[in-house]
Amino acid sequence: MKFFVDTADTSEIKELADAGLIDGVTTNPSLVAKSGRKFSDVIAEICDLTSGHVSAEVVATEYQAMVNEGRTLQKIASNVAVKLPLTMDGLKACRTLANEGTAVNVTLCFSANQALLAAKAGATYISPFIGRLDDLNIDGMELIEDIRTIYDNYMFETQILAASIRGPNHVKESALAGADVATVPPAVLRSLINHPLTDKGLAAFLADAQKAGVTI
Ligand code: E4P
Repeated sequence: MKFFVDTADTSEIKELADAGLIDGVTTNPSLVAKSGRKFSDVIAEICDLTSGHVSAEVVATEYQAMVNEGRTLQKIASNVAVKLPLTMDGLKACRTLANEGTAVNVTLCFSANQALLAAKAGATYISPFIGRLDDLNIDGMELIEDIRTIYDNYMFETQILAASIRGPNHVKESALAGADVATVPPAVLRSLINHPLTDKGLAAFLADAQKAGVTI
């Protein structure tokens, strides 16, 4: 499974990319707004930090305006994936941009039928929002499983990008359910490393090595 980091914070992205932990980045208008910087500057800087896809979302809602914004975003860097909302205009824009060879991430997916439509529209990625479904007491992971089955049934190549991930269990369960990618907030990504027995074991090994005067 690929890991994308879900943030527009360039220092976080740089650190995680330098550690070799990420395969791409997702942003959304809320995350870019939080950075307080100009949209195109942030996306350009992020695209320099990773060779993987960087999702940049349109803010238009009408077909032609979405296509125009998508083309503008695509010109920022070759690794931009244009993010479009799962609406009729969004799907139509997806088909147009996909036909031009642009990678498209169809976002705000909350049902298997929506995912089926995105695949038929030629999306590179579909983003089911697990956490926002869980918030409503609907099992977000069941959605990932359903999409996996449907895509496999018809050999759709659209990649399932598990989004709205809130904790380490969402990452593990997405991997078990067969998601192709998980986009993970930086804090959750870092938390995947932690285990108290790793810390305890390392402390014991180092203490023994010190006692024995081991040098390498
Ligand atoms: C990713 O592409 C989404 O924008 C993001 O995962 C949404 O997460 P949230 O539901 O925590 O805002």
